[in-house]
Order: sequence, then C-alpha cells, then structure tokens
Amino acid sequence: MKNTSMSNLSRRCFLSRSTLAASAIVTGAAFRLVVPARAQSARPGNPLRLPPDWTGGSLTVARANLAIWPGYSTAVSAINGGVPGPTIRVRRGQEFTARVQNSLGEPLVLHWHGVLAPERMDGHPRDQVAAGQSYQVRFPVRQRASTCWYHAHTDQLTAEQAYAGVAGFFIIEDPAEAAFGLPSGNHDVSLVFTDKRVSAARQLVYAPSMMDVMSGYLGDVMLVNGTPDAWLSVDRGLYRFRLLNGSNARIYKVALSDGRPFHLIGTDGGLLPAPMAVTSVMLAPGQRLEVLVDFSPYAAGASVVLKSLTFAGGGGMMGGPQQGTEMDLLRFYVDNTATGNATVPAALQPLTPLTSAQAKRTRVFTLAMSGMVHTINGQVFNMQRTDFTVPFGDVEIWEYRNTSTEPHPMHAHAALCQVLSRSSSASLPPEDTGWKDTVLVNPGETVRMLTRFDTHPGLFVHHCHNLEHEDSGMMQNFEVLPPPALAIRRDGAGVSLSWPGSEQGWSLESSAEPNGVVWEPVAGSPAVVGGRWTVNLTELTGRRFYRLAKS
Ligand code: C2O
Ligand code: CU
Ligand code: CU
Repeated sequence: MKNTSMSNLSRRCFLSRSTLAASAIVTGAAFRLVVPARAQSARPGNPLRLPPDWTGGSLTVARANLAIWPGYSTAVSAINGGVPGPTIRVRRGQEFTARVQNSLGEPLVLHWHGVLAPERMDGHPRDQVAAGQSYQVRFPVRQRASTCWYHAHTDQLTAEQAYAGVAGFFIIEDPAEAAFGLPSGNHDVSLVFTDKRVSAARQLVYAPSMMDVMSGYLGDVMLVNGTPDAWLSVDRGLYRFRLLNGSNARIYKVALSDGRPFHLIGTDGGLLPAPMAVTSVMLAPGQRLEVLVDFSPYAAGASVVLKSLTFAGGGGMMGGPQQGTEMDLLRFYVDNTATGNATVPAALQPLTPLTSAQAKRTRVFTLAMSGMVHTINGQVFNMQRTDFTVPFGDVEIWEYRNTSTEPHPMHAHAALCQVLSRSSSASLPPEDTGWKDTVLVNPGETVRMLTRFDTHPGLFVHHCHNLEHEDSGMMQNFEVLPPPALAIRRDGAGVSLSWPGSEQGWSLESSAEPNGVVWEPVAGSPAVVGGRWTVNLTELTGRRFYRLAKS
C-alpha cells in the first residue's frame, strides 16, 4: 500500500519535470521526492496546484508533458514549463520587462489582459512572431492594483493555444492595498477555471466542430489551476480568492454548495468601494472577480464545494457539454483553527464613477449571427481594416445590442469601463459594479457601458472573449487617436508649454515622475499666443513631467 502510493508520487514528480517518453519513467525512481511524505490519498481528487511566482527574465512558451492526472502524461502548451504559467506580479509604478520566447512551433503573441500596455506591447495579433523567435516587452504599469492575466492572442490560434495552456495570472500590486487588512500570504489564493474535453488516455481534446465554433468550445471536465478534481485545505479563517475565468466559452455561476453568502470585493479593474454580500456571481470568459470567503462558521473537519450553478441562457452542442450546467470547481476541507485574523473590511478603495453626462458620444455595437459566423456591426475581423477611431481622453458610451441567441463577453483592449445599464434588469448585479474590461452581453440583451481611452494611443482590438467567436472573426480593430503634441520649452526656472490652437478642451497635468502614477492639474489657464495654446510656469519644485488631459 505504502509502496504503491510512493511510486505514484515519484512518478507524478518525475513526469512534471520531464518531457521524456513514457519508457524512460523507469529511471524516475532515482529522482528525489519533493512531495511531503504525509499521504493525502485518503482524499479523493488532487490537491490544488498553485502556480509559482515568475522571477523575471523570459516567458518561454513550449510544448510539454505534465502529470495533470496522476499516472498519466498529458500534452500541453506550457509557459516556463507550467500550466497555468507562472504568476507575474508587478507593483504599480514599476516597469514590466519580459522576453517572450516562442518555442511552440507555430506563430505566437502574448496579450496582458487588463493591463494597459502601449500598442506594440499589447499583443495585437499583427505583432505575433514566427516559431522559434522571441521578442522583448517593456512598459510601465501605472494603473490601480488588480488581478489581470496573460494569454495567447495569436491570429486565429488564440482559442487553441489558450486551451492547451498558454495563460497565467498577471497581478498588479499596490502597497497601499495593505491598509485594508485583506487576507494575505497563503490566505490570498488565485484560481483559474478552465473546462476541458479529455480522452481516455487523459489527453486534452481540442477538435471543434462547426457547432462548437458557433457556441464556443465547452468541456465537461474542470481544471482549476490545471488541477482536476481539485481540493484545498483551509483553516477556519477568512480567505481572499482571485477568480479568473480562463475558459474558452464556459460561463460560471460561482457559489458555495451550501448557499452560504460570501463577499465580492473586486472586479476586473481592482477593488470595489466596499464589499458586497452575494450568494452567487456570474463569471464570463476573460473576467476576474475577487471574493472573501469566511470559513469560521464551519466546524473543523467540514467540507464545502465551490461550484458553478445551473443557469439558463443556452449554448452547447446536442449531446455534448452544455452551457449553464452544474459543475464542481473546488472542494474546501476545513482542517484547522484559524491562523489569520483578518476581518471583512467595511470600506475598500474609492472609485471615481464615470457619468453619462460626461459622455461625448454613444457607439453602438450590434452583435449578430449571420450565416455561420458571429459579427460585430455586420462584419468579421479584417486585420487590414480599422473599424473605428476613438479620440484620446473622451468619455464614451458603448452600447452592445445582442440580437443573437449566444452570450457574448465583450472585451476592449487599452481601457477599462463601467457598466451603465443592462436591459434585462432594473438594477445592476454586484459583478457589474466597479472597473471592468470584459462585459457579458446575454442573448437579446442591450448593455451600455462608459469608457475612456486615456492611457495609450494606437491600434488595438475589441472582441468577444468567447475564444471560438474571437478566432472566427468576432473582433474589430480600432485606433485611439493620439493627444495633440505638447511642446515643452525650458528656460532657466521657467517652462513654456504649448499645443496647437485648433485643439479644444485640453488642460495640463504634471507629475514628479516620467511614468507618474499621480498627476496633478497645473494651475494657470492657457492663452492663445501665436496660434498656440500656451501656459508659462515657474518650476518651483524641481523638474516635473507634463501631459495633456481632456478637461
Ligand atoms: Cu483576454 Cu484580447 O483578450
Ligand atoms: Cu485584453
Ligand atoms: Cu461571442
């Protein structure tokens, strides 16, 4: 008995570090065990895997064989050898630098979903590199703390590559978050949900039929952080879970199996102004939600399951996996007395709401099905075509009208947004509050959101995050127009700032750092001098950095 479990462990351990053929496993016994000796096999399923933190350098995407199921070797596309890839953590105000090495044997580009990156760093499919090539990524991260992620964004290969494993967490940290006293350390757990179809030989099957492309590829086997039948041992304390839907098409209605309430504290773009008590939350592909779960009401020895509840709203192939079916995600075993003393904070991070009164225009996006493809405003993606332009800094209303019978989680790169209204409900559900970057638009629904592209000019994509829909063309190119060029002339302690007199509605902001997180309005109103808006200042507090913002 002991021997069997030992050899299983060594085998698992060996497979996870090797891509050698199965015949080489015999030598695996020579490898030292890194798994704790205490046998966990009394519990059905597998302990939840936690992706390691990325330590910098490169992100190498390559095929690998992993022991996802004990005793089996499963072919995947891994990042630095893991599925999910390593968790990238960047502090607000710091630079993110990475070398992306494409060792996948086909084209590849990575996108930093939710992270506002300059256009050529953002992972537009036009920037994909050929097999064997690598490229450098470097940009400062200035936005608020949030749980983002990264994944393949290759032209017409996004779905297949992400399904095979090319995805990981990208967490933006801000030391200011510590003030809220949220659970930290091993009480702050990231969970990525993916659904797979699995063969008898425990291989991930990706073979979408025409119908699968219409609905998106749904699986019937859950992997949480790449772990099937996952369980996590918790203590009777408070936990922060960062939930990511990394699935191609499946939407989750996340709840505890006993219906106990938990607290929603964050959405795609970071923390909410205050926790909201919920008993379930909808999580569409591409989206993130942060929740606090309190295990103190449970007796030691109890167990409860994080699951996805049934919901209506269709999709799925006849006889195959269906959208909206009940699924177990992760089983918690309440094992120990509390080791943390965190409590649910009364207030979190204030949020500046965008208002419809600020909006300069409304853009309508009609989501429809025509023939066998999903379209946005009647068209499918054309890499060569720019579908619309957005003036830098303007607040806009984006209105999605879903005339199809499929849900579409809509995602724009380069900005965050706030949901304004949802035709199917008088008040917005908690998961629609806060800053978002992916908005679920249900069949027949009209959803309006407020957005403002004020970080990077350039060409970006806007698409459905159902990855089969995206790859089959439910995507647009749009261009964020640059702000006017700001001329800065220094003369001793004086600085003269000017921009074209034809540009209306701009004001100056300054920061102490070139990639400042904090920008302050500059006192002094601009006057037209020689056909240019001009502001003359005395730089009293040392050299500062300036930019134009929409006033
Ligand atoms: Cu997460 Cu353009 O995608
Ligand atoms: Cu994105
Ligand atoms: Cu879609």
